Amino acid sequence: MLHYPQKSEVFVMIPFLCPVCRRPLTLTQSVYQCEKRHSFDLSRFHYVNLIRSSKKIHGDNAEMVKARTRFLQSGAYQPLKDQLTELIQTLNPSSVLDSGCGEGYYTELCETLKNCECFGIDLSKEALKQAGRSCPSVHFAAASVFELPLPDQTIDVIWSCFAPLAMAENARVLKDQGKLIVVGPGPRHLWGLKEVLYDTPYLNPQETTAAPEFDLIDEQTLRYEIQLESQAQIQDLFTMTPYYYKTSIENKQKLAALAQLSTEVEFILRIYQKKSV
Ligand SMILES: C[S@@+](CC[C@H](N)C(=O)[O-])C[C@H]1O[C@@H](n2cnc3c(N)ncnc32)[C@H](O)[C@@H]1O
Ligand SMILES: [Zn+2]
Repeated sequence: MLHYPQKSEVFVMIPFLCPVCRRPLTLTQSVYQCEKRHSFDLSRFHYVNLIRSSKKIHGDNAEMVKARTRFLQSGAYQPLKDQLTELIQTLNPSSVLDSGCGEGYYTELCETLKNCECFGIDLSKEALKQAGRSCPSVHFAAASVFELPLPDQTIDVIWSCFAPLAMAENARVLKDQGKLIVVGPGPRHLWGLKEVLYDTPYLNPQETTAAPEFDLIDEQTLRYEIQLESQAQIQDLFTMTPYYYKTSIENKQKLAALAQLSTEVEFILRIYQKKSV
């Protein structure tokens, strides 16, 4: 029988799990430790690294993180953050997880939730350094979304924005009837950017993720136009996208010649509910 920490002896009620033995971790004076004495320091940036060092995996690098931070701080995706915040507030959760939280732009909505234990997980330590600064009340860990360091059936709401999606692992940590909100690009997301990059831009394909553990219960679309007013802002947006890696030098030069860019953005928010067993 595993010993689950009591409120008096720990910082959090829902414990992170040890990546070595999967036992609960207890936080004492900036060190997380399990009963087998595997220990992990809480970094001064307010996250704990629970990636086993033998695994050579990493998330977004410093350049990508800085570009995304600058872009998001411009407010261009604020309407999405507002819609997501409202949606999560109406669910009135007592525990949430931002899965693939990056530098915490959407995790910041945790600061609006009352009596709610909040977690953020990402592989990128560069991103988490930023996230820890902006969301002091959230527990952050460097870990994979495919192996979440959280116990079974403890979380009410998970959201995943433009991040890798691990349906079975999300189902494991969600309570019965818990909600999973998946935010991704709609068909015309960044159409104006793609018109510059490609002769014949394509609509983003739409796939709902069928998973036996979940029912899709709602789908919301958010669409509006953004105006980028400098080449630096255009490059920040471009660096955030998958096109950054797929575009020819010639087409990158077309983008580099622009001083302004207007583009549609279109987000789809899919809300899944975990089936009761
Ligand atoms: C496009 S970013 C989105 C970040 C954030 N959700 C946002 O919308 O601002 C994708 C994030 O997923 C993270 N990531 C990639 N693979 C991952 C994995 N297997 N486990 C956890 N995070 C991962 C990256 O480090 C990156 O921060
Ligand atoms: Zn352990």
